Formats: sequence, structure tokens, C-alpha cells
Amino acid sequence: MRNVFAVAFILVSVAAHAQDRVEKLLARMTLEEKLGQLTQLVTGQPELAPALDKGLVGSILNSGGVEEINQMQRRLKIPLLVGYDVIHGYRTIFPIPLAMASSWDPQLAELSAGVAAREARSAGIRWTFAPMVDIARDARWGRIAEGAGEDPVLGSAMAAAYVRGFQNNGLLACAKHYAAYGAAEAGRDYNAAEMSEGTLREVYLPPFRAAVDAGVATLMSAFESVNGVPATANRRLLTDILRTEWKFKGFVVSDWEAVAELIDHGVASSKEEAARKAITAGVEMDMRDNNYSTLVAAVRQGRLSRAIVDRAVRRVLRIKDQAGLLDNPLTSAAGDVPLDRDAARRVAQQSIVLLKNENDLLPLPKTGRKIAVVGPLADSKKDMLGPWSAKGKAEECVTLRDVIQDSVAVGDADVIIAVLGETREMSGEAASRASIDLPGDQEKLLQSLVATGKPVVLIVMSGRPLAISWAAEHVPAIVQAWFLGTESGHALADVLFGDVNPSGKLPVTIPRATGQVPIYYNHLPTGRPPDPKNKYTSKYLDTEIGPLYPFGFGLTYTKFEYSDLKVTSRAASATVRNVGNRAGDEIVQMYIRDPVASVSRAVKELKGFQRVALGPGESKHIEFTITRRELQFWSNGRWVTEPGEFKVWIGPNSATGLEGNFVIAIP
Ligand code: NOJ
Repeated sequence: MRNVFAVAFILVSVAAHAQDRVEKLLARMTLEEKLGQLTQLVTGQPELAPALDKGLVGSILNSGGVEEINQMQRRLKIPLLVGYDVIHGYRTIFPIPLAMASSWDPQLAELSAGVAAREARSAGIRWTFAPMVDIARDARWGRIAEGAGEDPVLGSAMAAAYVRGFQNNGLLACAKHYAAYGAAEAGRDYNAAEMSEGTLREVYLPPFRAAVDAGVATLMSAFESVNGVPATANRRLLTDILRTEWKFKGFVVSDWEAVAELIDHGVASSKEEAARKAITAGVEMDMRDNNYSTLVAAVRQGRLSRAIVDRAVRRVLRIKDQAGLLDNPLTSAAGDVPLDRDAARRVAQQSIVLLKNENDLLPLPKTGRKIAVVGPLADSKKDMLGPWSAKGKAEECVTLRDVIQDSVAVGDADVIIAVLGETREMSGEAASRASIDLPGDQEKLLQSLVATGKPVVLIVMSGRPLAISWAAEHVPAIVQAWFLGTESGHALADVLFGDVNPSGKLPVTIPRATGQVPIYYNHLPTGRPPDPKNKYTSKYLDTEIGPLYPFGFGLTYTKFEYSDLKVTSRAASATVRNVGNRAGDEIVQMYIRDPVASVSRAVKELKGFQRVALGPGESKHIEFTITRRELQFWSNGRWVTEPGEFKVWIGPNSATGLEGNFVIAIP
């Protein structure tokens, strides 16, 4: 007991010491210097050199390496926080986040973030603008590539894992883009988002909450407006929810020039007004635009209280202190760190989703077949990187053609592997597409390959789900590869030739046609559920009902069977057996529905998942706990659980599974 008190005492004194140190610093700063701490500039920006001379910059974005950073740090009284977009790797490039979410394995996300953090840190970077935790239900939006897909439970698990991976390895994380950026109307980047409080709380906010609970140091406010109020001036989001409800202690940085864009949003008429609105709402740092310098006059002339500025500076300085910057801002030159190809390959293997495998075309035998590897992405090193590739180098990426070097021409082949999809520029920021079909003439190419009568394996590389309905009908084997990073070719070959049994599952719904988006599994019921025999039901005239491949779906080279479902109000469990003849991993999913409530509840919601490795013939009883948290929803300003029946499914994806139910008698 005495020890516990001793430890508590030490912790309290350490915190008090840090507070003291920040307060002392604050007391010595001029107003200009304080606002400088709230300003982030970008390497190469003309304003940077004079700001450095006067000590009026708190953070920089981008880096020219250790030497340049150290030189800047030596000139400053208060060290800079150096930030960079380390999204899915720094030098070693891992699969894009949407692909990593397909592994349903937060430990892999954590591992990849750890590698990225160590590499970035050795280059003098202390802060990454990741993870992006935006839920995305609309595949037209190019930034769907950067997040974990459409589900808040999977998204929250990945968000927390990235935060741990980055921050436990010396890189401060930044959960972005707060909030609801992924709900951009029509899937058009930067566009407005409109949604009910229930949808905001239940779907879009949980991954941010998970990041905060995991101790994330910073958040980035989003570009867009949420229900008419730009996220960067949104006091409700930035203060009421983030600070008051969630007790977030770090700081918020705006997105690139988003403070000035409050003028374009039509909520401010001058830079100063935009800056005042942002800082008052709860944006502590202004990215890129040097807007907060206008606040000197605002404070001096009484339009902004000094206390608001001090509060923001305190928050920024505390994070600098927490990161150890106030003790030692310099980075010792570590030379070039070797790529972690082994980690990149392992993560990539688990991120691949097998969508179709007619007559067990895959895995391919390693010898005795002539293979043609064709298509624009078969040998495009730069595209393997995917969007946001930090210091990843195209020439270090392995393509499938690099691995299958004896690829023959189509006429001579026994099997054709077609590597089709999007280039890396077609997803990520400012990369919305009005059509999510295979770009260009690629479907025609695919048709001509299928017309040869030879077996075709389609590998889809993309930063979003593509509407590949024709392929789903006519191509015998389809692999969704997303962008797999440095080790793309090796990981793909490992799966194609059976050294690795694919186990990834979709973190997003794949639609049949662009016109179906936004499409997601956890939608509300309608009064007229789709019925092909009844015209007056909720469906399209020109597309079949439902998705092409549902959320959570993915095949393996073995077969899993589910049995023995047991459900109570506190737990649900089922036995999963590997009835095939290969070892494999199954991602077991639990869904819940509240079928009758005071408001319509989603037809299914993921509430738990577990990845389990099973040898041939092996089985395991998998249990999920159920708490009030899994049953609650947002109603009239609070979380409620209503008594009554709940349905439960345990199964391999969102469209199928063993079904049971339980009853909650008391709310
Ligand atoms: C704009 C993007 O929206 C954001 O995600 C990124 O971190 C910043 N630019 C900095 O590059």
C-alpha cells in the first residue's frame, strides 16, 4: 500500500513539475511569441525563415532531415514540433489503412505504426498526422483509402492500435479529421456533411473517442462543415464533446489553411474573425496560413481574451513537454535505417481479401503452368506505394512481375493473372470519383482476356471498393489487393501460390454499381424492405438488390463451419471449426440488432470480432462479452438502453451467421 502511495506521489509531483515548467515559460513569453507557438508553417514557405528568426513559429510541417531540423531547433528558445504525414509508413511502406483494416488485426496496425514511428523519429520527426479515423460509407470519396472503412467498432479498434503503435515508439499521433469528414455529400472531397446527432454519435465519433481514450496527443479539425457549422469553428465538437465530455488533454491543429477557409465557408468576413472563431471554438494550432498572427491586434484591442490564447499555448507546450522536446529537441543522426521488409510483407499478406475462387482455381501450382501477368498494375512500382507514401521509394517496391519473372505472353499462357485497378493518384485527398468502375478501358481488356477461354485471376488494386459486377460474374478468381506497399509483389505471390492462406475480410461494402453508394451494411430498416417480386419496395429498377460483396466478407483456401451458438444477455459464443484441409485464420464476427425500439435501429451492427487460427479439423469455442455499451444508442441527448428483445448473429460476415436472441427486462 505504501508503495502505491509513493508511486502516486511521484506521479503527482511529476505532473506538477511539468505544469510549473509550462507556466514559467508562459509567464516569460510575449503575446507574439505565444501566437507563434500556435502557428505551424511548412518547409519551403517564404514566411518560415523570418518567423524562425523572430522565434514566431511553434511547429513545422515536412522535413528536410535531421541536420536541417537540428539547425532550426538550435536557433529557437522553444523547440519546434516537427510534423509530417506518416500515414502507412515512412521509408518502409505498409498497406494503405483501408487494406490494413481488411486484416481485422489491430496488432498488425500497431506493429506497422511502430515501424513507421521509429523510422520517422530517426529522421527528426516527432509528430504524424495520423491515424485518419474517418468512417466512410461512400466509395466515391477518395479518402476512404486512408481510413478503416465503414464500421465504427472496427474503426475504433484500428484507431486505438495506431495511436499505441505511433506513440509508444516516440511519434505523437493526430486523430483526424475531426469530425464527420467522411460524410462529405455526394462523396465529393471537402463537401458539407449533414447528419443526425444519433448518426454522429454512434457512427462517426466512436473512432475519435477510441483514439482519445488511447491517449492520442492531438486531433486535427476537419475541412468540412457539419450540420452547417464548419468543423474548424465548431465549438460543440471541439469543446463541448472533446474537452467537456471526453476530457481530452492534448491540442487540436487545424487542417491545411482551414482556418482561413472559414471565410469561404461564409462564417467569417476577415482572417482575424476566422482566427478568433477557430481559437475560441477550440483549435489551438493553425496549419500553414499564419492566420493566428492576426490575433495580436484582436487581443490588444479587446476582441479576444488573452486567457483563450494562454489556454491554447499551455496545451501546445504541455504536449511538447510530454514529448520530451523541452528537455532535448535534437535528434542524433542515425544514418539510413534499413527497410523492415519482413514486417511489410507479413502485414500485406494479411491485408489481402479473396473475393471469388471458382473451382479452387487458387492457389496456383508453383510449377508446370505457364503464367501471363498482365495489366497496367502488374509492374508499376510507384503505384504499389498507394496514396501518401512519405519517403517511400518506388524503386524499392516489389511488383508481382518482379516475383513472377518468367511471365509469358497471353497466347502461350495456361493461366492469366490480370492486375487491374486504380493508379495511386486516384484515391487519397482531392481524389473523388463520380464513377467507381474499373478506370479507362480495363474492363474491355479483362473481357478480352476472359474471351481467350483461359482461366483468369483478377487482382484488383485500388484505394476504394470498385464496382466490378462484370468481373464477379465472369472471372473465376478475384483478389482484392488494395495497395499493399513496399512488399506488394511478394505478399501477393505468397497468397496466389498458397504459401499463405488468405484471411482478410472487407472493411467496406463492395457495391454492384456506383449508383448504389452510399451503401453500408449497418443501415436503418425501411417500411418497405426490398422484395424482387414487389415493385413498391426499396430498390433500383436497373441493379440487383444488395451489395456485390458484403461488409466482413472474405474467402480462404480452407472452410470454416459455425455451430453451437449460445446467447445470454451478457455473452454470445459459438464453435468455429476448420473443416478443410489447410490451416487458416478465420475472422469471427458478432452482430447485434435491437429489433423494436423507440427509434429505428440499424438492421445489424458489428459488436465484436476475433481472429482465430485453426489447423485442419481443429475447432474453438469463441466467446464475446455483451455489455450495455453494445446495446445502447443515442436518444434525446444521452445514451440509452431499452428493454426488450435483441437479436445476435455470430458468423463469417455481415450477411450470414448463426442467429439467436436474448431479452433485457430492465432498462
Ligand atoms: C491536408 C490533409 O487533409 C491532411 O490530412 C494532411 O494531414 C494535411 N494536408 C497535411 O499534409
